Amino acid sequence: MAGPLANKHVVLGVTGSIACYKALDLASKLVQAGALVDTIMSYGATQFVTPLAFRSITHRAVVTDSFDPDSEYSVEHVALAQQADVIVVAPATVHCIAKLALGLADDPLTTTIIAATAPLVVAPAMDGNMYDHPATQANIATLKERGVVIAGPGIGRLASGLSGVGRLLETPELLGYISYAMGKDGDFAGRTVVVSAGGTMEPIDPVRVITNHSSGKMGYALAEAARDRGANVVLVTAPTNLADPALVKVVHVRTAEQMGKAVQEHATKADALVMAAAVADYKPAVEAGQKIKKNDDELNISLAKTEDILKTAKGNFVRVGFAAESENLVENAKSKVTSKKLDLIVANDITAEGSGFGSDTNKVTLIDRDLAVEELPLLTKYDVSNRILDRVKALFKD
Ligand SMILES: Cc1cc2nc3c(=O)[nH]c(=O)nc-3n(C[C@H](O)[C@H](O)[C@H](O)COP(=O)(O)O)c2cc1C
Repeated sequence: MAGPLANKHVVLGVTGSIACYKALDLASKLVQAGALVDTIMSYGATQFVTPLAFRSITHRAVVTDSFDPDSEYSVEHVALAQQADVIVVAPATVHCIAKLALGLADDPLTTTIIAATAPLVVAPAMDGNMYDHPATQANIATLKERGVVIAGPGIGRLASGLSGVGRLLETPELLGYISYAMGKDGDFAGRTVVVSAGGTMEPIDPVRVITNHSSGKMGYALAEAARDRGANVVLVTAPTNLADPALVKVVHVRTAEQMGKAVQEHATKADALVMAAAVADYKPAVEAGQKIKKNDDELNISLAKTEDILKTAKGNFVRVGFAAESENLVENAKSKVTSKKLDLIVANDITAEGSGFGSDTNKVTLIDRDLAVEELPLLTKYDVSNRILDRVKALFKD
């Protein structure tokens, strides 16, 4: 299985919040992502959900008692601490956060955390006033200073019925934080990568647009993969159905022109620009001010060429383009490398099985500025991203 969590040992700490039920979903998604999940529950957590539920989802023992003579682990806080690739406390109560800030170790979770060197993610979940309390704020600040990744909390409806800050983040966001925490000191730490994604929308009139079938999945996977290697990532995206990746600066645009401006603004400080977006080559020369009426049998719309963002973007960064082709893949991609002065192009045959728009996998060919060709096998878009980033890393200008 591919992805940042495959075969990773994740210690999932669950403490006594009403949001405990959401930790079951997190455990399930972690397992589906290939992680080996060891759950440690506080006494409070066991009052909300049962250890059996976690055991059934993770297929592994659940720890609830430091002094259990029948434990499957020798000295379990040390055993789990040593094998952990990452520890995540979700939900984390006010009480647990306070104990962590003080370095207390009076239960199996806090004892494991203090015995571990693995990255720690803490996802607070609590009522708004509990979160706002100066003690909680000071404790969170202490944890941040120590390098703990604080995930959230989110804003929205709280269990009390009130609305405010204190919601446990949703599972996809938590997964993003966990991947980020594992890779934040990775080989892209200190680098800025700008990625574009999605298919631009060029307005015909206030109702209609010209667009294409790009789902944005390749660009979003690239943004996540770069984040998971420690990069600061800016994702400039045309509209997609995808959720914003956690810990990525996301700039939403619609048209090629807007994308060009946003890319240029961020690329100035970037180490790499990866243009995975499907940018319209042509747009309606004039956008009608009112909805065009259905009067004549034919409607002719005159199109004007859009600016080539990758060709015109100014700055000293690694330039990576994408070429989605339906014929003569390598020849067409090679001519783009030369005409746009690219460092690398990722060519994909959109007619190939398991490739292209909307799919979770892609089969691409990488062509560098010397026109050397490397054909990659069918891979997940996340794995393709890492292969691209490996090449980008070797091309960094300083
Ligand atoms: C119904 C109920 C819901 C609770 N929800 C939360 C919560 O969301 N966040 C929180 O910090 N504490 C919450 N508490 C309080 C904690 O359970 C309590 O502070 C407990 O001592 C936490 O211990 P633990 O961190 O060891 O699990 C809740 C308590 C009850 C009875």
